[in-house]
Amino acid sequence: MSLPLTTLAEHGPRLSPIVAGAWRLADWQWTAAQGLRWIEQCAELGVTSFDHADIYGDYQVEALFGEALALAPSLRERLQLVGKCGIKLVGPARPAHRLKHYDTSAAHIVASAEASLRALRTDRLDLLLIHRPDALMDADEVAGAFEALRAAGKVLHFGVSNFTPGQFELLASRIPLATNQIELHPLHRAPLTDGTLDQLQRLRIRPMIWSPLAGGALLAGGGETERRVHGALARIGERHGVSAASIAFAWLLRHPSRPVPVAGSRRIEAMREAVDALRITLDAQDWTEVWQAAAGHEVA
Ligand SMILES: NC(=O)c1ccc[n+]([C@@H]2O[C@H](COP(=O)([O-])OP(=O)(O)OC[C@H]3O[C@@H](n4cnc5c(N)ncnc54)[C@H](OP(=O)(O)O)[C@@H]3O)[C@@H](O)[C@H]2O)c1
Repeated sequence: MSLPLTTLAEHGPRLSPIVAGAWRLADWQWTAAQGLRWIEQCAELGVTSFDHADIYGDYQVEALFGEALALAPSLRERLQLVGKCGIKLVGPARPAHRLKHYDTSAAHIVASAEASLRALRTDRLDLLLIHRPDALMDADEVAGAFEALRAAGKVLHFGVSNFTPGQFELLASRIPLATNQIELHPLHRAPLTDGTLDQLQRLRIRPMIWSPLAGGALLAGGGETERRVHGALARIGERHGVSAASIAFAWLLRHPSRPVPVAGSRRIEAMREAVDALRITLDAQDWTEVWQAAAGHEVA
């Protein structure tokens, strides 16, 4: 099956409308061949874009993905790779770090992107994001690093993640940004009202959505709210002939900012459920039924 790529912002990049997230890949304890199978099966579904960060799996995930890709190097041309940088973790992979902190200096951004290219065994990232807002971020310096990476052909597009509208506006005043990758799901609705999605819709820049299933809690969470949301998703799913998970994705896709969800499952069936959501359009009552189940009250 092929899904047409979709454009995130005026000048790109073009990603698959569902992106596969690699955050948990090291936990899956796969061989390179199993990793390749996952990448290939995602791509067969039309999920050709993969979301990474330098720090995933204590700095190991990009290399695991790169080893898998090395088994079928020609696959790279069919894929789009998203990277992130700017967080410095404490751990065996980075003994020099005394405490977890952020670093958005030009030197770190460039060095981190180059390390990601080596680990992923590729010559370019399609999109690089600043992972979290850094109080010490100098917007001119970040823009300079982005321009240098672009001029070298090492990164084609840039964006941010977890930025407030003000932080987004600051960096966007120096260099075009392609996305703000944010957390959004029925249990985390703040971006609907705090200006984040309003800003992106106004600028016609599409959000990428992380943890679209609240890390699985929407479908398997034990709390009262989670059970209520799961009940609503399952009811609506029955009406549309799809799974509760598909409705969770359809709930995100219904937003007029045109989100691109990043699905984090090791199971291809779960990836298929995400793709199934692309053919569902929830009406305002379905959408509000999920919102109401999460909020615990009707809209005002
Ligand atoms: N920018 C950021 O700051 C940031 C932060 C977090 C994540 N991310 C990105 O977003 C991606 C997705 O995040 P996520 O992994 O939290 O996404 P998610 O899709 O909300 O959660 C995935 C988890 O839910 C489980 N799951 C999926 N379907 C399920 C079902 N039907 N029932 C029960 N559990 C189910 C999966 O387990 P199975 O594998 O067993 O299906 C997996 O453990 C990450 O890989 C990463 O690329 C970005």
